[in-house]
Amino acid sequence: MTYTALTRMVFGHVDARVVYAAVRLGVADALAAGPMPVEKLAETLDCDPDGLARLMRALVVLGLAEEPEAGQVALTGLGRPLCADHPESLRSAVLLTGHPATWRAWGALTDAVRAGGSAFRHAHGRPLFDHLPGDPDLAAAFHTAMGDGTGQVTEAVVRAYDFGAARTVVDLGGGDGTLLAAVLGAAPDARGVLLDREDGAARAAETLRRAVPPGRWSVRAGDFFTAVPAGDLLLLKGVLHDFGDRRCVDLLRTCRRAIAPDGRLLVLESVLPPRSAPDAAAVVLSDIAMLAWTGGRERTVAGFRDLLAAADFTLSGVSPPLAGTPTRILIATPS
Ligand SMILES: C[S@@+](CC[C@H](N)C(=O)[O-])C[C@H]1O[C@@H](n2cnc3c(N)ncnc32)[C@H](O)[C@@H]1O
Repeated sequence: MTYTALTRMVFGHVDARVVYAAVRLGVADALAAGPMPVEKLAETLDCDPDGLARLMRALVVLGLAEEPEAGQVALTGLGRPLCADHPESLRSAVLLTGHPATWRAWGALTDAVRAGGSAFRHAHGRPLFDHLPGDPDLAAAFHTAMGDGTGQVTEAVVRAYDFGAARTVVDLGGGDGTLLAAVLGAAPDARGVLLDREDGAARAAETLRRAVPPGRWSVRAGDFFTAVPAGDLLLLKGVLHDFGDRRCVDLLRTCRRAIAPDGRLLVLESVLPPRSAPDAAAVVLSDIAMLAWTGGRERTVAGFRDLLAAADFTLSGVSPPLAGTPTRILIATPS
């Protein structure tokens, strides 16, 4: 069998499991300070020495670890972002994508493609956001990964949009509060309100308490399809891609009722290029991840424009991609 690009894809799950094991067992964090003999690493992490030596060998062939001298192992530059303290850490993303509940959902992708609906629902019997409150381990992995991912674009967000004139910023489905904290930092005269489900709202309060003086923010637990707090700057980051078109229009209509006449709605999402091309891979594969996770989808600019128009918003601008990610800011005004 020739080891082709196709073979790599067929066995791609092995790479992902090796990376997950390295993070879950604490291998990456244990090597953050520098090289270590493999036996000492096995002892420190309470692992079977043979199993750990083989895991390390796999990390070496993947380019994530190296052997600076015989019997010693260290992380490479490629492997370092697996550590918790790396500024662009992917640790929480690995813990979420490798979580057993996530893997179970991916196992039902064929059902989702055949019958529609999210793979998560086929696998777990209920949608992701209804499942999270009863699965605290997955909820912690989910909200931590979302917050970390958002943290990696907040600087670019506050550079790309002038938040100075905002009075009341409302972050809908604001997750752990990372985005709202950054926006309030860039809009010193504004107040902020974050709405999320119970499990997200509890974490948001912790983040905002640490980052923003009291009196400038509040957190509400609730359902954004029912009603959203009034404001002149509404934020929806990573929310519309969680839902199909009909639910998005429902949500955008609740936003339309709540927004000030001179207000702005910022939609922060990855944007699909109009045609599939090699440079579209990240967003195209993220679209499949949405099918697996929530039954939502990624969209083109035209797709967002149509959704916004159906809820009486006009798309008035689109930022360039932020911080080397496919995320952009789509700016909408009430029509
Ligand atoms: C993909 S996460 C994005 C979180 C955050 N905006 C970010 O980008 O880091 C989607 C968020 O929407 C929240 N959410 C889902 N359904 C909701 C609903 N019906 N009402 C309020 N929040 C909801 C989830 O709890 C979650 O925090």
